[in-house]
Amino acid sequence: MTNSSANQMWGGRFSTGVDAIMEAINASISFDQRLAAQDIEGSRAHAAMLAATGIITDNDAKAIREGLLTVLSEIEGGNFEFSAALEDIHMNVEARLKHLVGEPAGRLHTARSRNDQVALDFRMWVRDQCDAAESGLEALIKVLLDQAEAGADWVMPGFTHLQTAQPVTWGHHMMAYVEMFGRDLSRIRDARARMNECPLGAAALAGTSFPIDRDMTAEALRFDRPMANSLDAVADRDFALEFLSCASVSAMHLSRLAEELVIWSSAQFRFVRMSDAFSTGSSIMPQKKNPDAAELIRAKIGRIFGAQTALLMIMKGLPLTYSKDMQEDKEQTFDAADSWMLALAAMTGMMADLTANRDALAAAAGSGFSTATDLADWLVRVLGLPFRDAHHITGSLVAMAEDKGCDLPELSLEDMQSVHAGITGNIFDVLTVENSVASRISYGGTSPEQVRLQITRWKEILT
Ligand code: ARG
Repeated sequence: MTNSSANQMWGGRFSTGVDAIMEAINASISFDQRLAAQDIEGSRAHAAMLAATGIITDNDAKAIREGLLTVLSEIEGGNFEFSAALEDIHMNVEARLKHLVGEPAGRLHTARSRNDQVALDFRMWVRDQCDAAESGLEALIKVLLDQAEAGADWVMPGFTHLQTAQPVTWGHHMMAYVEMFGRDLSRIRDARARMNECPLGAAALAGTSFPIDRDMTAEALRFDRPMANSLDAVADRDFALEFLSCASVSAMHLSRLAEELVIWSSAQFRFVRMSDAFSTGSSIMPQKKNPDAAELIRAKIGRIFGAQTALLMIMKGLPLTYSKDMQEDKEQTFDAADSWMLALAAMTGMMADLTANRDALAAAAGSGFSTATDLADWLVRVLGLPFRDAHHITGSLVAMAEDKGCDLPELSLEDMQSVHAGITGNIFDVLTVENSVASRISYGGTSPEQVRLQITRWKEILT
């Protein structure tokens, strides 16, 4: 089934309209209407530049710029009828502008193409998302810093292979995530700086013969400079890919913290208690309090990785410059950005409300022979044994404690001396978890003193 009338924007060489299926596959308005604000801001800057360079009259520019504001308020107020026949946001806005201001609307597209227009709109949208991600990450880091400060000296088990390894502090564990999200922050800032060049003025692909001023539009739209190659400007979407890869790495970090919260809030661990505001109950099991928010953060990450892979696949092997394939860049990126922002906000809310169970952390910190390394280090430091021998002796002592069903500090001095005669009573000093963590004073180590040093450093960075 074809529409009988040709498209009003590009119908010059067409005698009939498009098949309904063609319209369904071709139209992007159902999703790219999210670019309305960017599209209108870009068009207003373009119109002002066209007037400043004498390409259109001041009167026409004025009519266009005011008309565009009306269109924006219609869209923002929900009083705009989007039309799939008009394909995308660019043509929907322009058609409405024509309706509102008449003939001058037709001059707006001088020295411009939808190719540089969409490259601009999408880049500005992604740039806004970089800013949103930056605020989201900063808020999360602040909440983690609060947690770290409250529990800078609370002992807990540190794990490798999810087996008790050595005692660490709650503050140290929180600060590990501060470092990770801190790098996410620096990555997104780097990506933003790199994408902050303006594609507008590249026109369809080759630039234009009109005397446009690309510096003027770049500056008006808060870009550092115009992009230096018109083919590149309309053809690449690496800025979106970089955004998605920043999002992916950060989402990976979020998923690890989410997973820890799921484990820690279980009845078997009881390391943390989530607030009611961030948990749900079960409709059948009255005792349940489920960490749904953490689980959903863990799961949402899949959409973000998926979007990155999808966009890489969309872009892979496309010949320069624009191909319609690239219209498929948006939905993926929109969905990933929404998921990332929501996951950041949910994690921030959850961590702000989270109560660490100091007693359960401490009890777990001392179990599982967590100070075995301290014992081995003592044998090296005090008795001068080679570390490999000390490791062996400690292994025998752990086996002995296991046999007796006790922990290392509960072995008697005689027990110890039966394995190595040189051991003295001083060894018991290093077997408490508090002394163990306090002794880890190497830079970046888990001692409360080192943890507080890093908290102070991060607070300075964030102010
Ligand atoms: N809706 C299109 C997109 O998102 C706009 C660019 C169309 N350009 C073209 N030459 N058909 O990519």
